[in-house]
Amino acid sequence: MTADPDVIVGTEASITVCPDGPLLVRGPVTIVDGAGRSITPPSRMCALCRCGRTSRTPFCDGTHKKRKRVSPAEAS
Ligand code: FES
Repeated sequence: MTADPDVIVGTEASITVCPDGPLLVRGPVTIVDGAGRSITPPSRMCALCRCGRTSRTPFCDGTHKKRKRVSPAEAS
């Protein structure tokens, strides 16, 4: 029997920052939007957009991959 990668055992949530990408949220969480409404994550693992370009707010839709990377020297 193999483990289902979508099944997360445990009761603690964790957040992983993806460089130039979303925040990967694993575990039991409640997401609350700016108006105070609860949003049910699609599963016990979800990706929250932090680039502001998604069409599925607050979740990442992969649009961040289209953004041109800017080197620190170019940004200043
Ligand atoms: S982080 Fe992926 S669309 Fe914003």
